[in-house]
This record gives sequence, structure tokens and C-alpha cells, in this order.
Amino acid sequence: MHREIRKFLAGMAVAAAALAAPAPLARLHADKGVACADCHGKGKARVDDNEQAPNLACVRCHGDLKAMAKGAADPLNPHASHLGATSCTICHRGHEASRSYCLSCHDFDMKMPGGTDAAWKPRPDPARRDRRVDRADVVVVGSGAAGMVAAITAHDAGARVIVLEKQPLTGGNSMLAEGGMNAAGTKAQARKGIKDSVELMREDTLKGGKFLAEPALVEILARGSAASVDYMEGLGADLSDVGRLGGASVSRAHRPTGGLPVGAHLVDVLRRNAASRKLDVRVNSRVVKLLEGRDGAVTGVEVCGLHRGTYRILAKSVVMASGGFSANPARVARYQPSLEGMASSNQPGATGDGLDLGEARGGKLRDLEQIQIHPSVAKGSRILITEAVRGNGAILVNRQGERFFNEIGTRDAVSQAILHQEGKSAFLLFDEGVRQSLKQIDGYFHLKLVKEGATPEDLARVLGLPGAALRATLDAYNAAVDAKLDPLFKRPDLPRALRTPKFYAIEVNPGIHYTMGGLAVDTATRVLAKDGKAIPGFFAAGEVTGGVHGANRLGGNSISQTITFGRIAGETAAGFAKRQPERK
Ligand code: FUM
Repeated sequence: MHREIRKFLAGMAVAAAALAAPAPLARLHADKGVACADCHGKGKARVDDNEQAPNLACVRCHGDLKAMAKGAADPLNPHASHLGATSCTICHRGHEASRSYCLSCHDFDMKMPGGTDAAWKPRPDPARRDRRVDRADVVVVGSGAAGMVAAITAHDAGARVIVLEKQPLTGGNSMLAEGGMNAAGTKAQARKGIKDSVELMREDTLKGGKFLAEPALVEILARGSAASVDYMEGLGADLSDVGRLGGASVSRAHRPTGGLPVGAHLVDVLRRNAASRKLDVRVNSRVVKLLEGRDGAVTGVEVCGLHRGTYRILAKSVVMASGGFSANPARVARYQPSLEGMASSNQPGATGDGLDLGEARGGKLRDLEQIQIHPSVAKGSRILITEAVRGNGAILVNRQGERFFNEIGTRDAVSQAILHQEGKSAFLLFDEGVRQSLKQIDGYFHLKLVKEGATPEDLARVLGLPGAALRATLDAYNAAVDAKLDPLFKRPDLPRALRTPKFYAIEVNPGIHYTMGGLAVDTATRVLAKDGKAIPGFFAAGEVTGGVHGANRLGGNSISQTITFGRIAGETAAGFAKRQPERK
């Protein structure tokens, strides 16, 4: 068909869709006299995959996120959410019904102009090809902490970098990380008098992972951890608060002052560093294929962009940092049928595409059946209640009002203990003292997940638990804290008694949280083929890789892994690229 006719028909299809959709924003705007060019820009420029022109137009007329949040009556305001500096078009669409991205994880009654209640879904890309070919030294697939750190490191080593993110916003699962970033031998630990060492972190990690992890990778994780905290602080992060998470022998989970969630903060720092370096970061851009050179090397990617369509980027090296697959129920059930139907704490993009891409290029996969369930996801939701609440002193009680396990044991053990209780759930119980010690708890109040009582008996009434039993449980626990010895469950760390009203509880049950398996890599983050040899030009870091955590990841080791191995991947990929000729 003639190109002009095709173009005309495509334009008609867009216009028809705009008219057929339930009051899409394009129509609402047209009714108010806003012209197409006011949002799309003038001339022939197409809307790019980051949708920069429409986003700038939204802000020009309506103000930025801060301005939008200011006028809102409801404190649950998506414009002031933990997603940080996001763009308007993630949720607000011109030519199709708008959908709230928040509803991918939350369950709010959220109405928006031209919107639908339906959950957010990736929008299928037009089957259009763009024959223009882009070039880069290093392509990074995924924009969580591992990808962004790899990209920044490669850029700082002199490489031309392109970051590709299939979701409409950057940050991946890292954005949702709460408890902290594990590191041993840091300045923050020294200031607090915490005695830790690389050896202790290595041993805790190997033991927590049931000795299935690759010792050489664990050694790198532990040995690089303090330098990775310094690195992030050098980029502007605040990691001065240190707390304890499950399976750790000492407090080594680093997070912002006051115990704010670590992930949203680090992602914000990384986004700002990417922006100040003018890194080429493309959202709505799904990698559909890794290109293969004659010598078996990975030589670039084929990308499907929301507006641009399918195109190629020739690159000298590719870093896969696309995350795990906890948000892919079919895949989880394939490797662990017992987890079928369990909710996941992950963002919707955690579907494991990087495993398929890597495997198709000959990459070896390992430990895929090792899937972690986290003990404390708020019941009936997908909201993770950080282990740090227990680390700072909360206890778990069952429907009899009794404790039943060492609350800061490893996740696998605590999760199983909860699943053995009546109703397969438990109550995470804490007091005002714990609440004041950890700012991230405010978020659970904000989300209306917390029940409260002026006394333990009041709280028991609200929860439907036996009041006398709950009082006895608290008395016994407080006595254990005073004696610095937990005779019931040998909890190794008893940071504070629970005596300060009010008393609070969140009902929790285990949820799918992390996938320990993935692409096999060596200590330089080179992806290994089935014969154990490194695939030239192919690197990987973060949750898409296997071998760092074995059969069970310790809380706080994920963010640590993303920064340490992200840095290595960025350096090695940039170094490899330097030695390659330009791709043709
Ligand atoms: O419980 C948490 O804060 C989770 C931390 C992690 O997965 O590392």
C-alpha cells in the first residue's frame, strides 16, 4: 500500500479510537479548545517513547506533581506517592482510557478524568518497524538499581550508554525496597559501635542461603559492600541509619536517617545522577531480542518502543539488569507449584523476560526453583511490611495471642512458621516506641493497614484475640528484653521492650518476594553459557542473575547486590566495549 495512504489510515484509526474510547483526555481537551499540537508539539516530530512532549505540556498547564498533590483532599494521593518523580502519561492517556499505575499494587477507589477502574497493563506496541539503527557502546536492559548503577558507572568510564526500561517509569523493584542495604565494616556502623566484618557478612549470607550460593560471588558481595555504601553516598545518598534484618548476626542494613525506606531514596538519587549526566534512558522500551554477532558475541538489541515501534541498537556490550520474576504467577507456579495463587510484593514489570532473552542467546540458567516468600505482606494486599519493623522490636503473635517463633530468623523459616498458624497469618505487634524508631512505618498508617489500641487489651479487642493471653505474651516478652534473654525462641536481638502506648498491629502473611535463580555469571558479571564459558559482550547484574543468594536471600542483601554487581557490570561492560571495533 502506498505510504501516504497507510499514514492517512493510521491517523484515521487513532482518531476513531479517540472518539470511541470512554471520554479520553484527547476529547476532553479538544472540548476545551486545546489543539493536538499543544500536546504533541508542532511539525512532524513523533511522540517519543518517553512521551516528553505530552508530559511537558501536562506540566505547563496543570503544574508539576507537587502542585497537583497540594490541592488534593485525600491523603492517599498518587501525585505524592513513593514512585517519586514520575511522568503524567504513565497514568493519564490521551487516546485511550487512563489507568492508574498505583492500582498495579494497591487497591484504592481511584477515579480520574477519562479513566477506567481496570488495572494498568503494558500497552501493546503498534506493529511498526523503524529501520533507523541506533548505536551505543553499552546498552543496559532494566532501570532498577543494578541497571542504573551499571549505566552510570559505564558512562563515567567513558562509554556511550543507552538504558532501556519496558515499564513506563524507571526504578524497577528497587523502588519498592524498604529495609536497607547490607554492608559490613562501614563508617556508619563504626559511628554506632557495631562490630561487623566481611567474613561475618559472608558467613551469614552463605548460611542463610543454605550453602547453595556461589562462594566467590558471596565474597564479592561482602567485600564490596562498604565501598558500595561509600559509592552511593558519593552520588548523594543518605545511608546513615543502620538496623538489623533477619538472619544477620549484627545490624548492617543501611538506610536513610530515621529509618526511611531505602529503595525510593536510592532510586531518586540514581535518577538525578542519570539526569545530570544526560544519560539516554528510554522507558516504554521493551527489549525483544539480543542480537548475535558472527563470533557468537552479543552485539546489540532489538527493541519495541511504545511509539517508535521495533528498531535495533547496535552495541559493543549489553548488560542485562532486568530483575526477577516474582510478578509472573505462571512462571512462579512452573518452578514452585506450591506457590500458585500467592500474592507477590513485586512491581508488575518483574516478569523475568531477561531470563528468556538470555537463555535464547545461550545463557545458562540456575536455581530457578529457589523462590523466596517474605513473611510479612499485609493480609489481603500486596504491600510488604518491612522486616525492619521486627528488626526494631516488633513481635509476631498468632490468633491465640501468643508468640510462636524467633521473629528475626531467616525469611524461609519465619514464613513457614506463619503458614503453620491458624488462618496462615499472624499479627505483627509493636508499640509507639517501635513506631518512632522507624519512619517507614508511617507509610503503613498512611495506607490504613494498622489497627491500634490504647492498651494491649484494647488492641486484642480490635483484633479479636484473647486479651489476657496477649497481655501475658507482652509481659513475658518485655521480661525477656529486660533480662536480655529470650527463653522461648532464643531471639538473638531484643532491641526494645513493648510498653509505650499506643499498641499497634498489622495482620501479615507470606508473599512471593524474590527469585534467587537466574542467569549464571562469573565474578566479573560475564554471563556464562551452558559450557561454562563467558558469552562475549554479555553481562548481567541484580536479580536476573543466580548464585549470589543460594536457597534463601537475607533481607538487605538485594540492594547491596544491585549496587556492588551493578558497578562491576558497568566497569567490565565499558572496558569490553573499549576493546571492540564499531559495530556495523
Ligand atoms: O523486609 C524488607 O524490608 C525487605 C528487604 C529486602 O528484601 O531486602
